[in-house]
Amino acid sequence: MAHLDAGTSKIAWPSNALTSVPYRVYTDTDEYAREIERIFKGPTWNYLCLAVEIAEPGDYVVSSIGETPVVVARSLDGGIHAFVNRCAHRGALLCLNRRGHGKDITCVYHGWSYDLTGNLTGVAFQRGVQRQGGMPPEFKREDHNLRKLKVVEFCGLIFGSFADNPPDFQSYLGPEISSRIARVMHKPLKVLGRTTQVLPNNWKLYFENVKDTYHASILHTFFTTFEINRLNQRGGVVVDEGGGNHASYTIMDRSLDSTDYKQQEIRSSKDDYRLADPSMLEGVDEFGDGVTLQILTVFPGLVVQQIQNSLAVRQLLPRGVDRCELVWTILGFADDDDAMTEHRLKQANLVGPAGYISMEDGCVGGFVQRAVRGIEEDNGVLMMGGGDASSQTYRATESSVRGFWKKYRALMGV
Ligand code: FES
Ligand SMILES: [Fe+2]
Repeated sequence: MAHLDAGTSKIAWPSNALTSVPYRVYTDTDEYAREIERIFKGPTWNYLCLAVEIAEPGDYVVSSIGETPVVVARSLDGGIHAFVNRCAHRGALLCLNRRGHGKDITCVYHGWSYDLTGNLTGVAFQRGVQRQGGMPPEFKREDHNLRKLKVVEFCGLIFGSFADNPPDFQSYLGPEISSRIARVMHKPLKVLGRTTQVLPNNWKLYFENVKDTYHASILHTFFTTFEINRLNQRGGVVVDEGGGNHASYTIMDRSLDSTDYKQQEIRSSKDDYRLADPSMLEGVDEFGDGVTLQILTVFPGLVVQQIQNSLAVRQLLPRGVDRCELVWTILGFADDDDAMTEHRLKQANLVGPAGYISMEDGCVGGFVQRAVRGIEEDNGVLMMGGGDASSQTYRATESSVRGFWKKYRALMGV
């Protein structure tokens, strides 16, 4: 089904350059409605869940694309299917629990049931009761299946698309992003935990934040104080051709000095703090390449995280123009021993809603959201590292944030 043309954007962009972003994109409800149609229901691939969450035939979990509830299921023949979590009868939410197992799913409202491919298989009282009532002869079950999505599985991650002809998945990722996902997700995964964080800001502010390598070592004092991530460490940013996907990476080197930070009197440059128990920061080079931190995004809402041995996927979901949810799934590998699982869980405290590192990301988007209200005619500035959205071998840049806007503007037609 073609996406609706949700009208023309009324937002004035200062130019075609990627260095200036109108604040109105974070507050305008019409633009938000266009984003749902043109991005989330458009020609994009949206992360849904992990294959390991529906490991067995008959398993299913609930997820979302944009604001739309979705069920992802493994049918009895082992295939993966995704469909809108909405009964075809009167639109009730079909799966009420986060996960389930069975050969079909039955709506609580009037008892219509569906198999795990999304086909309608049963209608309560279809032939009426005592020859009275029931569905007319022209009612055909096959006309009332659930609305199905396209799905693809890559490295244990399942993505879905509302588009009839979604882009080729490998081209959508680009070669460098797909190899950097494969680098982390290189063997069977195990889910260690899950948490959902509600953010008081537009979804784009979080996605920009996670692509923004400039802020990390300045806003997050924990990072620099304990020398996990400084901009003078070796690393870089990869941006795919379309601009929407990125990976930033760091190779930790504790021998570097902090002169750049001290000279600018950045608040994270104090060096008189030490952890009483530094074991949380001890890492094992499990990928064999010395990369201690890799943060990767796939447009419009997936983050794949490797911070030393803390692995996670984060799913970003819009929840109205000024709210979003971030669903964290904390991961390990199926063959981890108990000590490694313990280590990953301990290191998982670095991030998440109350993480030592990332706590600030939970509020900084809200700071923007509060400050742009009422004066949306102005624009934000994105000039760090030049004006384009190319890959760079340094991280004092906003290249990957400009990449986001490149992809966004192409899809939104603005
Ligand atoms: S709404 Fe589901 S059976 Fe009626
Ligand atoms: Fe951050």
